[in-house]
Amino acid sequence: MNYHLITGGCGFVGRNFVKRMHRTTQDTIFFVDDLSVGTHPSTWLPEGTPVRKLDNLEIFGEDERMVFLKGDFRDVVRELIADDQFLKTKYGFDFTKFSDVFHFAAIVGGRAKIDGDPMMVALDLSIDAEFFYWVTKHKPARVLYPSSSAAYPVDLQTDTNAIALSETDIDFKKMGQPDMTYGWTKLTGEYLAFIAAKYYGVSVTCIRPFSGYGEDQDLTYPIPAIAARAAGKENPFEVWGSGKQGRDFVHIEDVMDCTLLAMEHITDGSAINIGQGRLTSFLEIIEIFTRFAGYNPTIKPLLDKPVGVHSRYCNMDYVKERLGWEPKISIEDGMRRVYEAALDRRN
Ligand SMILES: NC(=O)c1ccc[n+]([C@@H]2O[C@H](COP(=O)([O-])OP(=O)(O)OC[C@H]3O[C@@H](n4cnc5c(N)ncnc54)[C@H](O)[C@@H]3O)[C@@H](O)[C@H]2O)c1
Repeated sequence: MNYHLITGGCGFVGRNFVKRMHRTTQDTIFFVDDLSVGTHPSTWLPEGTPVRKLDNLEIFGEDERMVFLKGDFRDVVRELIADDQFLKTKYGFDFTKFSDVFHFAAIVGGRAKIDGDPMMVALDLSIDAEFFYWVTKHKPARVLYPSSSAAYPVDLQTDTNAIALSETDIDFKKMGQPDMTYGWTKLTGEYLAFIAAKYYGVSVTCIRPFSGYGEDQDLTYPIPAIAARAAGKENPFEVWGSGKQGRDFVHIEDVMDCTLLAMEHITDGSAINIGQGRLTSFLEIIEIFTRFAGYNPTIKPLLDKPVGVHSRYCNMDYVKERLGWEPKISIEDGMRRVYEAALDRRN
């Protein structure tokens, strides 16, 4: 049996990976989260999932293959650095090396946090530095580092100069300015990934997801928030900024498919885009959800709200060529799923 580690395993991306890895493998999945943003597994695992406590661990499922450790990942990593085998010696898990390590613990928080508390977001530097330091000691079989589209230079994303961002638009030897401390931490994380691969021989894959969304994303993110307001037939309909700003929205199932495939092919710490390769404005998103809800509201722009760059979308040619991968869930189908989940939550 393999043992995997998912940091930030109770957040949006992390919990989807915990469920996916549990469903598609016979392996044991350890996940760590301080629940600063993420929610306890009892809120997102199927109702009635058995749980057993073992000291400060909670072990979920009939097969006991989902093991949750609540805590700051930096504390856990320090414990691992002090005693790499503590999960074996202290709890009796029979393994010496993690197989896949997915590092989703991060302070993210969307536009309000990125612009509103950039120094708090900069703490990602400490989470990522300690993570990569441990990785180079432990040497798991494979590591996944989620960078972000925010690592791309912002001057390629303005209203007068927006291009479909290609992987080569980040070049460590010739750099533009990333998006706030969030973008800088992600760019630094990519550099640490490159160092871990090149100088320590660790297999690392970096991904740059664009705007990931899904049915169970929390309401601080625009897609589920807009869906919930449309389901409640908000009118006038508020939008941050003019609503003409756009993003490249990609469903979490597509993000996971592409990530797992990328880990089979990319080991040198280099990064790939994960998006649809399509720019969709927030006004278009509102149009889709209010069409599902069957009404046509007046739009009320909130010009004092933070909106970030004007247009952020990617070029998916490299991923198509290198991995033969394309997203499967169209904007229309993905938004339909989110809308139905928003309706369920109202009932
Ligand atoms: N969701 C997206 O579309 C997207 C896009 C690009 C990149 N990413 C990256 O993917 C990763 C996960 O993003 P997400 O959307 O799931 O965010 P999220 O906020 O939902 O999840 C992050 C999780 O990390 C936990 N956490 C924070 N600090 C921690 C710490 N010190 N120790 C332990 N746990 C801690 C939080 O409680 C939360 O559950 C992040 O690195 C993010 O930058 C996500």
